[in-house]
Formats: sequence, C-alpha cells, structure tokens
Amino acid sequence: MSLDKLLTPVTVGHTTLKNRIWMAPLTRSRASQPGDVPSEMNARYYRQRASAGLIVSEATQISRQGQGYALTPGIYTDAQEAGWKQVVEQVHEAGGRIALQLWHVGRISHHLLQENGAAPVAPSAIQARNSTVFVIQPDGSPSTPQTDVPRALETAELPGIVADYVQAAKRAMRAGFDLVEVHAANGYLLNQFLDTAANQRSDEYGGSLENRARLVLEVVDAVVAEIGADKVGVRLSPNGVFGDMSPAGSADTALYVAKALGQRGIAYLHIAEPDWAGGQALDDDYRRALRKAFGGSLVFCGGYDADKAERLISSGIADAVAFGRPFIANPDLVERYRRGAALNQADPSTFYGGSDHGYTDYPSL
Ligand code: FNR
Repeated sequence: MSLDKLLTPVTVGHTTLKNRIWMAPLTRSRASQPGDVPSEMNARYYRQRASAGLIVSEATQISRQGQGYALTPGIYTDAQEAGWKQVVEQVHEAGGRIALQLWHVGRISHHLLQENGAAPVAPSAIQARNSTVFVIQPDGSPSTPQTDVPRALETAELPGIVADYVQAAKRAMRAGFDLVEVHAANGYLLNQFLDTAANQRSDEYGGSLENRARLVLEVVDAVVAEIGADKVGVRLSPNGVFGDMSPAGSADTALYVAKALGQRGIAYLHIAEPDWAGGQALDDDYRRALRKAFGGSLVFCGGYDADKAERLISSGIADAVAFGRPFIANPDLVERYRRGAALNQADPSTFYGGSDHGYTDYPSL
C-alpha cells in the first residue's frame, strides 16, 4: 500500500508539518537530577526522531504539585526551561517540529513527590484504585507504591492551577516550542475532573457535564489567551480506563469537549485510543462523531501501523496519526514506513528510567 496521505504535509494552526506521522507523547523518566531538568541525552533522543511530522514531548509537569513519577521533566523552573530550549534547538536544527505536553497528574501521585510530603490533589478525595507511581525512597531506593489518597482541591485553588498552565505555556514558548499540548487524557488531573466517578464535587466544577468540563476549558482559554489558539493542542482519551477512569459517560464527555474546543479554533485535537491500556475500543462511527464535533485537525493514536493510519486518513476521519512504541524503537520510523522496511521491536524493560540504553541506541536503517 502506498503511503501518499501519511507522507503529505499538513498545517495545524499556523505550523506546517512535513508529514502526518507524529511521535506520540512518551514518558521516559530520564530527566537529569536534581531538579528534573531535560539533558543533552534527552535532546539527542528527540533529535534522532526529528523526521516525525510533529514530536509531542513526553508529559511534563507544570508544577511540583503536578508531578506523579520520579525523574519526569518539569517546565516550572529556569533550569528546566533552559534544558528544554536545548532540546527544541536540536529538533529544529534537524528540521523537526515539537510540541510540549503540559501535565498535572492530580491524584496519580505520592507524598514523597510532593512539597513537604503533602497529599496529592484531585477533584475529590478519592484514591485511584490499582494505580501505582514511581518514587525514589528517602534511602535512595526506587519503588512503585500505590498512589496516595488525594486531598480535594478548594474551589479557590483552581485559578492557581490554571495560572500554572499559563506559566508553563509561556515558558514553553520562550524555550522555542512550536506548540503546546494540554494533557487532558489518561487519568490525570484534567481527566479526573471530566470523570463521572473521580469527580464528586458539589461546586460549579462537578456534577453536570458542563461543570465537569469547566476546568479543562478554563485551562485552554487561559493558555489560548496567552499564546494563541493556533499554538494549542489538546489530548483526550474517551473510553480510557487508565488511572481508574470510569467508562460511564466518557465517550459523550469527549464529544462535548471536542465541540467546545472546536469553537475555540485550537490547532489540533489528539485522541489517545484506549486499547493500549484497557477500555473499550473506539469505532469509526465514534471517530467520525468526534470529527464532526471538533471540526479542526484531528489526530488519533494507539495501536496503529502505517497501513491502518493511511486508511484512517484516506477515509477523511483523521488528519494525522501519532505512533508511540514504534517511535521508541525506530528513530527513523518515517523512513522505514516510506521504504516499507522492517521495524525494530521496542523493549518495555527500558521504557522508564535508566541510561541511554533502550533510549538513544535503537539503530536507524
Ligand atoms: C505512553 N503514553 C503517554 N501518553 C501521554 O499522553 N503522555 C505520556 O507522557 C505518555 N507516556 C507513555 C509512555 C510509554 C512508555 C508508553 C508506552 C505510552 C501513551 C502513548 O502516547 C500512546 O497513546 C500509546 O503508546 C499508544 O500508542 P502506540 O504505542 O500503540 O503507538
């Protein structure tokens, strides 16, 4: 099958991308310490993958409170901003484009990661079941405990969280990123607010669909006001159950949010499909409904290969497809797809943490 569509440029917002093969956001837990700062090794990894139409960076905490796993990078200190700047410079020098994924984990965290050992925060004081995080114990040993019982955020604290997203987006622009992606997927803070189970609030941020969607839309509006709608993408995960998200109402909630985001004219909407981490698979009828609701550039991710992605774009449902694990193992994924070449297989044992092994040493053709 020829890949005419995947290899055709596409414009999102004001950014023209050389192809429609995007690199999905992938947490790799290799920020330098102390301070969770992107390093020269991280820059090399991203540069190797600069032939992607767009790289979406690994999820990046917007504040200390927004961190849920040790060794993930942040974008709230000057050192982190400077670290990201060298990543962006490397990607741009290699002809790539890159978005920063803005992340607040909410309840998917642990007091060992929080300032003064505080409880993580969430819409409601409800612990995520069967959810673990990665921490470094005080004696230096790594471990993967259950997430803590979170503290419910006060209504008066929410403007501060919105402000943290804005600050992070400002820093991202200063570091040279082409776009930011607001992470509202995969069971983290903004997804917790959207969720019918994790969110049991009785203020204007809980209850009705409109109320549950309020925080993510406030975040998007504030970030748009700061950097422009043409530089903002959003990621959602309808039907996703990772992080103890409830399937109830999830697909309808995503349609509602997609419509509201379409009205705001953001650069793109990125759908993380549920099959990689459980949850009922999406079908084309639902994907089409998302397309109709949003109306702008739409990207899907999760279990795609080149042929399946080409078909989805040819059918008019998607504008681009993002690839996660294939990009971990194949820095030159675009060229391999172009040539129909065999792929390296990703090794899950080196996904998170560690050295350049399993990170920058996957071979190109
Ligand atoms: C992920 N995923 C993910 N999603 C996200 O929005 N932010 C992130 O930081 C991460 N981190 C992450 C790390 C690793 C090691 C994996 C495997 C996955 C989900 C990812 O973006 C994508 O949706 C899935 O990997 C499914 O796509 P593939 O791998 O089937 O192409």
